[in-house]
Amino acid sequence: MKNTKNRKVIMKVEHLSKDFVIHSKKLMEPKKMLHALSDVSFEIYEGETLGIIGESGCGKSTLGRCLVQLHRPTSGTILYEDRDLWSLSGTEHKEARKNIQMIFQDPYSSLDPRKTASYSIAEAMKVHNLGESARERHQRALEALQEVGLDVQHMERYPHEFSGGQRQRVNIARALSISPKVIVCDEPVSALDVSIQAQVINLFRKIQQERKLTYVFISHDLGIIKYISDRIIIMYLGRIVEMYTAEGIYQNPLHPYTKALLSAIPPESPFEKRERVTLEGDIPSPIGEQKGCPLAGRCPNCMERCRQEIPQLKDQGDGHLTACFLYE
Ligand SMILES: Nc1ncnc2c1ncn2[C@@H]1O[C@H](COP(=O)(O)OP(=O)(O)OP(=O)(O)O)[C@@H](O)[C@H]1O
Ligand SMILES: [Mg+2]
Repeated sequence: MKNTKNRKVIMKVEHLSKDFVIHSKKLMEPKKMLHALSDVSFEIYEGETLGIIGESGCGKSTLGRCLVQLHRPTSGTILYEDRDLWSLSGTEHKEARKNIQMIFQDPYSSLDPRKTASYSIAEAMKVHNLGESARERHQRALEALQEVGLDVQHMERYPHEFSGGQRQRVNIARALSISPKVIVCDEPVSALDVSIQAQVINLFRKIQQERKLTYVFISHDLGIIKYISDRIIIMYLGRIVEMYTAEGIYQNPLHPYTKALLSAIPPESPFEKRERVTLEGDIPSPIGEQKGCPLAGRCPNCMERCRQEIPQLKDQGDGHLTACFLYE
């Protein structure tokens, strides 16, 4: 999926910001704003896997939750098939909700411990008015479980009666039973054993090919993101700092943050020379007013301008976007 020029845009995010109010415990102290996402814009192409990577707290989950309407954006818009998600009418809104599903990191807490696998899947279908009868939903739950490599013996099991990998398979089956178009996968294999991770990742790929699904795949694992993604977004402190094809970013990272992130991967061959970029200090706080480039305090290439202005995402050629004054 290298050429994105003729591809259909299924979702479009425009100038999305999400702030959370932080309440102080001290009386009379004014409330503060935590800027989880700031001015985020990008497109999602039908059938692609868009990888999102960045350090803990950079806003990946908040972005995923905005995409599936679990968070209402503070400003900006999210379009699904050219229509603003937050201004859809009743039936259109329900349809969009059905079409964009999410799979979470912790497969255990995403399932009701008191409900069997078949019940949880059938219930999700019922919420979306799918299936004519309980019998049909039961049959479709079995088909969904078979699609993810489980079978009839797993139908009446409770969440604690599955292994971690199997539980995540049940979650995937539940999402699939609703026949979504887009699935936001928020660290879906991070809680799993390394040997199981590969199986579940391959299952995601197989299902995508069979169902022509679009994935937004969130992870902090560079290896997984490289393996699964067509394009990648690199985030830092609630902003996109770089966006391009997976291959292009790994071969030629532009932003100092991306360079630091990728230089941490061990080289594939002992003869491969790679520039090691290290960042000093910690990620700054997302609370309060933001001035200058978010990386300014840690960047080895920081210039005076970087402390004053926020760099915008700009095309450096062939759609390779980065937000850095080094390239202006
Ligand atoms: N409901 C909330 N209320 C207040 N702050 C929140 C809320 N949800 C997230 N945040 C804050 O927003 C920022 C982004 O959080 P988010 O969970 O999106 O990060 P993340 O990139 O998914 O991190 P991780 O890799 O650890 O999952 C963090 O500073 C977090 O503390
Ligand atoms: Mg997260």
